[in-house]
Parts: sequence; structure tokens; C-alpha cells
Amino acid sequence: MKIEVVTVLPDLFKSFVHLGVVGRAIQSGKLDFDIVNLRDYAHDAHRTTDDYAYGTGIGMVMKPEPIFEMFDDYLSKHPHPWVVYPSPQGERFDQKKAFDLSKRKDVMFICGRYEGVDERVMTIVDEEISIGDFVLSGGETAVMIFVEAIARMIPGVVGKYESVENDSFYNGLLDYGHYTRPFEYRGMTVPEVLRSGDHAKIGKYLLKDALYRTMLKRPDLFLEHELTIEEKAALLELFKEMQKGC
Ligand code: ADE
Repeated sequence: MKIEVVTVLPDLFKSFVHLGVVGRAIQSGKLDFDIVNLRDYAHDAHRTTDDYAYGTGIGMVMKPEPIFEMFDDYLSKHPHPWVVYPSPQGERFDQKKAFDLSKRKDVMFICGRYEGVDERVMTIVDEEISIGDFVLSGGETAVMIFVEAIARMIPGVVGKYESVENDSFYNGLLDYGHYTRPFEYRGMTVPEVLRSGDHAKIGKYLLKDALYRTMLKRPDLFLEHELTIEEKAALLELFKEMQKGC
């Protein structure tokens, strides 16, 4: 898949594109990632991309011309991308949205700064997405969150795809607890079942742990979740164990 980030702060992405899962996705060619410097489309020597707000004069607004001209230029060379404007006014980002975006061929994120973009830019935007009910000074950090979540969903990017399938939220439940060596640390031990080698037993234990954590930590998610037959059976077993106090 292809992602373009349109920004006036390209340097913010300098290490982002080289490190971690996103860096690996780019290096392996599974993610074609481009940073577009909006200032390249400015009209003056100062490469101005913002101006005073009409009406109130409060704050600065990103000018429409560089954005529209950047978009025309892009369309003259590429098929139409899916255009996302990161904004606190958008729909809340979640795992499903990351999954849906990862299925698109080409996604362009247009980062606003200051008070945001001139409202006329919204005519080229397909979707506004928010990372939460708070205001950032620009869309760039939100885009890093979007891209990080999307990249791990591109097949082949994360070593074992099962580790993506087991991520929190993937199946509507939180992830189970993870352990590594040593088996005992400061008197705390790893649950014995995880060393049993019995994969059916381990699978059931992990499912019960995921159900338990979701009930406890995110009851809102749990109440929304439609239980599968397997999950119902695991939940029954969990309740019985809780009754017995183990
Ligand atoms: N830009 C500014 N605030 C934002 C938010 N909460 N989510 C996404 N983009 C933003």
C-alpha cells in the first residue's frame, strides 16, 4: 500500500520512517511512504502556507492554494488517493479504522497546523479522523499513530501475523497477558499452564485471560462484544473457577 503525508513539518518524520515496524515496512517495500512538503507549493519567497482568519482574525489558517495545487499535481501523476484529514472533529480512530485504511491502495493524510485548514479544503477530503477528544497543534503526531497502527496490519510486516490477530481489539477483546523468561522473578512465577506444551489448554487459558481482562479493564468493550460459542464456553469455565476462588 501507499501512504503520503502532506505536511509543513517534514522533519518530524525523519526518524519515524527509519525505525521500528514502520521503518521495516518501508525498507521491505511493503509500504510505499512519501512525505510531501506543502511549502513546495507555496507562492512566495517565504514559502507561506498560512494566513489570518477571516471574520475573527484569531489564529492562523492554512491557505487553500498550496493544498489544492499539491493535490492537482498529485492527481496529474497518480490515481485518486483516499484523503484523510486528521482532526479532533473526526470519527474516533480505532483498530477497525486502522484495518479499513490498511485495505486501501493509497491513503493521503493532509496535516493541518494552527487553527486548521481553510474549510474549502474539505471538498477534497474523504474522511476526518480523530485520535481523541483533545486538541493537538497539528495533525502530524496523529498521523504517526495512524501509520503505526496501519503498518502492522499489512501482511508480512509483523513477523507472525498471529501476533497481529491477537492484538488487543482485533477480535473485540483486550490482549491476554504475556510472559518471558525467567520463570520466576522476585517470587512471581509464570502461570504453569504456559509451560505445559498443551496447545489446546494454553489456547483456552489465554482466551479466558483475554475475557477476564476485558471485563475488568474495559467493561464498555465487553458489553459491546458478541461472544462466540468458544468464548461463551471459556467464560463459563472462568466463572466456575472464580467461584472456586482459583
Ligand atoms: N489535530 C488536532 N487535534 C487532533 C486530534 N485530536 N486528532 C487528530 N488530529 C488532530
